[in-house]
Amino acid sequence: MEPKEELFKNLRKQIAESEHPRELAVDVMLAVQRHYGYLHDKALEEAADLLRMTPLELDELATFYDFVYREPVGQYVLHVCDGVVCWMNGYPWVLDYLSNKLSVHAGGTTEDGMFTLLPTACIGYCDLSPAMLVNGRPYGPLTPEKIDDILKRLREAGPPPKLAR
Ligand code: FES
Repeated sequence: MEPKEELFKNLRKQIAESEHPRELAVDVMLAVQRHYGYLHDKALEEAADLLRMTPLELDELATFYDFVYREPVGQYVLHVCDGVVCWMNGYPWVLDYLSNKLSVHAGGTTEDGMFTLLPTACIGYCDLSPAMLVNGRPYGPLTPEKIDDILKRLREAGPPPKLAR
């Protein structure tokens, strides 16, 4: 992983070169999040400081963005699409199925810290609906068999590289 000093130096440079630094807010939050694993309060403060924003301003933005994690997440983050197309093609059963299989409610993380289950607005793979992202990688159209296979393979694979979330 990129050392923190190097990361922050690069982010400072990008921000200094940008005409509209606030437009980099999401990118900066994601970069800082990749470093820490999630955007805890101290990480949020550091990102806000880089952007010359207040932590409150940045936190308001973070709450609108499903891929910024203000709480710890599991090693694999399952972003289950609840957009209109996926909803019509089976989102409710997909969420129930995953929830039952993993014994975790929407928004939660499994006890072993392996999976976090997050409903998410359209992920841009409507042609694969019902669809989900696993650490950013798309899967679909989902069926119970396909979900079983995905979970089995992820469990066998073990923890992903830290950058993958
Ligand atoms: S509505 Fe699910 S990917 Fe677009």
